[in-house]
Amino acid sequence: MVRIKLELLKIFFAAFILCISGNGLAQNALYIPPALTGTTFNLNVQSGTTQLYPGNPTPTYGINGSFLSPTIIVNKNDVVTLNVINNLTVATTMHWHGLHVAPENDGGPHQSISAGSTWSPSFEILNNAGTFWYHPHGEGKTELHVGKGLAGLFIIHDPAELALGLPQTYGVDDIPLIVQTKAFDVLQQIAIADHMDTAVFVNGTRNATHNLPSQVVRMRLLNGSSMRSFYFGFSNNMTFYQIATDGGLVETPNALTRLLIAPGERSEILVDLSGMNGQTVDLVSYGSEMPDGIFGSPSVGSGADTMDMYMDNFLNGADFNLVEFTIGAQTGSPITSIPSTLVPYVPFDIADVDVNRTLVFDTITLVQGDTPNRAEGPFGINNTTFNMDSINITIPLNSTEIWTLKNNTLIAHPFHIHDIQFNVIEKNGTTPPITEQGWKDVVLVMPEDSVKFITRFTTFTDEMVPYMYHCHLLHHEDDGMMGSFLVVDPFAGINENDISSFEVFPNPSSDEWNITGKWGNESVTIQLTDAQGKEVLKRDYSNVSAEEGIKVSASTLNAGIYFLTIVSEKGAQKLHLVRN
Ligand code: C2O
Ligand code: CU
Ligand code: CU
Repeated sequence: MVRIKLELLKIFFAAFILCISGNGLAQNALYIPPALTGTTFNLNVQSGTTQLYPGNPTPTYGINGSFLSPTIIVNKNDVVTLNVINNLTVATTMHWHGLHVAPENDGGPHQSISAGSTWSPSFEILNNAGTFWYHPHGEGKTELHVGKGLAGLFIIHDPAELALGLPQTYGVDDIPLIVQTKAFDVLQQIAIADHMDTAVFVNGTRNATHNLPSQVVRMRLLNGSSMRSFYFGFSNNMTFYQIATDGGLVETPNALTRLLIAPGERSEILVDLSGMNGQTVDLVSYGSEMPDGIFGSPSVGSGADTMDMYMDNFLNGADFNLVEFTIGAQTGSPITSIPSTLVPYVPFDIADVDVNRTLVFDTITLVQGDTPNRAEGPFGINNTTFNMDSINITIPLNSTEIWTLKNNTLIAHPFHIHDIQFNVIEKNGTTPPITEQGWKDVVLVMPEDSVKFITRFTTFTDEMVPYMYHCHLLHHEDDGMMGSFLVVDPFAGINENDISSFEVFPNPSSDEWNITGKWGNESVTIQLTDAQGKEVLKRDYSNVSAEEGIKVSASTLNAGIYFLTIVSEKGAQKLHLVRN
């Protein structure tokens, strides 16, 4: 059924493109989303209409307005409350992308906000200064809700960043740039059809123009598109300086003339416009130079495994303007130099790694008889697609892990994980490019390539509510290229003061666990289950003493977390064992 709808839409699109492709003339002032500051935020999620084209107004979604979402600006260590008031007629969710928050505050598909209700997560801002964002994450609905306008920046400041004297006057020398392409149907309604995203928006503005002062200006770039990557550069080819990756500032500014940003990713850049008063310069996406295999590049896939109608979309492989900047007078106290150092970067240490995991991206057969296409999908991770009711990975708290992402398909997937920031340590067997050496929560995995990152899962645990990892091509995410993970406390259930409390050593272990308790020659039954709840071992002991304890062999088990239930004459207890 989905397929038939798609075919019909494509016919409409083909007709529609003919009508809109001549639109590039009228220019519009770049919209700067209003900034919300403080610690309590009222986010009124609503539907409305927006005049995006002459003629029919377009039905859109917005927060505190009919289209797009305000910019939330907070300080590290603030305790914030976000009242997400769902005035839509459908359920949605709101996810704080990149923020280190407890799973119940994360706003993934498990925190659905029904129509008419309000969700009010409250949490401390633990991330360092950086550019994050927020968007809906409903099961199968992310592309539709983000596409219709629900996407906003979430800016964090901290003392180390404020001390650097970077441009930070929002909308003046610190410019939010949410870059998106969208697809429209013949009725000028925003449509979900990843192949025909032919309308270019920056902060919801088509053909945007903006005035900038002739000094150092900071730009916060967010790729909020469903599918398209952007290869940013300026029309005069001037050098710009990347100062932050997804999760915050880098150690030293990276001097660049091009910067690739995939869906979900952010980057902060500085541009020095000193002496350019009176000139204009365009922010451009150089699609013609983008490496093949990335949606937006000249080609994706090969032979029978290509994207249907890919080359019918005139933006693919093309260079196109995003914003035209007109440079004017300086502001009162302008920033005029690019700092030489920013903040220290101390990535996780490979010597601390407890667990290695591999995630394989592959095509998957969703509908019996369908042949998946290696560029078009559908795609899964480790041979499975997202299921609301199952947990794919269980991770012990404070586990330091290397994840290897292996892409067996012919399209690049931007992989995103909630809860943590990671350090990319390897791309295709070598050091990652300088632009990805920093704190990241999205990494683009090229076709038939692999990526390794290192991270640590700290602070938050929950036995029930998972976090997500997924492809940030929203079409892929909605189709199930997503999984869930729990972070659990391996020592939960061990009560030091209890007569029957236990000690486990070593834990994690790869050989065996020694479990000692205050047993007095009693009978004990143990049962070991894996993270999916499957029993892997059950054993009875008749005469367990405190000195002896019991030993559970770990050597034949797969790496992961196990739940041990111990039933003795004094009662039952559960603990987590980690096999590394
Ligand atoms: Cu930006 Cu799971 O999302
Ligand atoms: Cu996220
Ligand atoms: Cu993908």
